This record gives sequence, C-alpha cells and structure tokens, in this order.
Amino acid sequence: MKTINAELLQKLQWRYATKVFNKKKKISPENWDVLEQSLLLSPSSYGLQPWKFIVVENESLREKLKPVSWGQNQVTDASHFIVFATLKELKAEFIESYIDRIAEVRGQLKESLSGYETMMKKNIVEGMKKDYVFHWNQRQAYIAMGFLLETAALLEIDTVPMEGIDPKAYDDILGLTNSDYGTVAAVALGYRDEADKYAEAKKVRFAKEKVIQFLK
Ligand SMILES: Cc1cc2nc3c(=O)[nH]c(=O)nc-3n(C[C@H](O)[C@H](O)[C@H](O)COP(=O)(O)O)c2cc1C
Repeated sequence: MKTINAELLQKLQWRYATKVFNKKKKISPENWDVLEQSLLLSPSSYGLQPWKFIVVENESLREKLKPVSWGQNQVTDASHFIVFATLKELKAEFIESYIDRIAEVRGQLKESLSGYETMMKKNIVEGMKKDYVFHWNQRQAYIAMGFLLETAALLEIDTVPMEGIDPKAYDDILGLTNSDYGTVAAVALGYRDEADKYAEAKKVRFAKEKVIQFLK
C-alpha cells in the first residue's frame, strides 16, 4: 500500500496543464461538490473573499469565449469552465456585509466586531489606492485557483489554469463590464483526452536547490 506522502506526490506528478480534454467525460456531481468546497474553503486576506467563481455552463457563451482565449479548445471541450472574477473596488458596504456574515455564522454581536471592521475599513477602503485594490483582490483569486487545482489533482480530475484570455472581452461577454466584478483568469476542468501528448511530457522544473533556500 502506498503511503499518503507517496500518493500525494504521485498525484502532483500526474497533474499537468491539460491541452486536450475528452469532450464526453463529465465530472460527477459528487466530485463537483468537493471542487466547489475547495473554492469556498480557500483562505483570503482578512477572510474577505473578494471573488466570484462564474461557472459557464451555457455552450454558446463558451463558444464566444474561445476566440478571445487565443482559440484554446479547452474553453469549449472541458467538462466545466470556471471564470475567476474579483471585485474591482472594495467598498465599505462590502466590509459590512462580511462583518454581518461573521456575526451570523459565529453567533456574535456585530458590536463585538466593530474594532475589526474599523481596522479593515481603515486599511483597505481608505488606505489602499483604487488601482491597487483590484490587483490585491486578484492575488486572493489565485490562492483559490491553487486550491482548486490541487483538489482536482487529488481527485484525478484534469485541469488547466488559463491566463491566455482577454479579460476585457470576457467582461463584455459575461456581462461584467458595468458590474462590481472583473475577470481575472479561468480554469477548465474535466478529463484528459488520450490524444493529449502533453500528459506524458516530463515536468520542467528548476532544481530544488535553485528555488528553495534555507537560511540557517
Ligand atoms: C496562472 C496560469 C496561467 C496559465 N495559462 C495557460 C493558458 O492560458 N493555456 C495553457 O494551455 N496553459 C496555461 N497555463 C499552464 C502552464 O503553462 C503550465 O502550468 C506550466 O507550463 C507547467 O506545466 P504543468 O502545469 O503541466 O506542470 C497557465 C498556468 C498558470 C499557473
């Protein structure tokens, strides 16, 4: 029997950025539920979750997204396609909605959270430059993306993270342009096609010594 360490490493080696998906193989509802949970359970700075995960089920929308994704087939062929969007700004009301949620989930009085609320508003709403907030939110989205990719690998579900997309065109197609959210990146998920030669390609990684440094 494999140890958990060996199993984890084997799954991480098995994962690769899938280029060709099997159009016929779909993710089961049970597995999809775990994938969704991996997004919901992702950490974010202050726990703010400034994101929206848009699952594009509509086939004609996916056809429209493909040409603005460098024509990449994964957009239309994968079982599931998730667009990661984040808030363009962080307004006081959003912080308040998060405080309301903490109070609700943990059964706390809102007043007991007022110090946390003031601190967040001071640091984020007043303290951050507007342009920077969108970038900051995008960083949070990448954490969720990492969680999703790893969870999928552990379930032996294939994925490809996709930055080869035109976020502005995505905003237009998905109706986000005049909304609070803006497209960051996307992930296609499903099952690799046998024809995908990249599945067998050796992983190209720098030597451990080059990237992991121990300061003693
Ligand atoms: C943020 C991000 C964006 C990426 N965008 C694309 C993409 O648009 N299309 C694609 O085929 N691969 C994309 N990749 C996959 C990378 O090229 C791939 O992860 C890298 O070459 C390492 O290979 P591996 O994931 O197969 O181990 C992206 C990866 C990341 C992390």
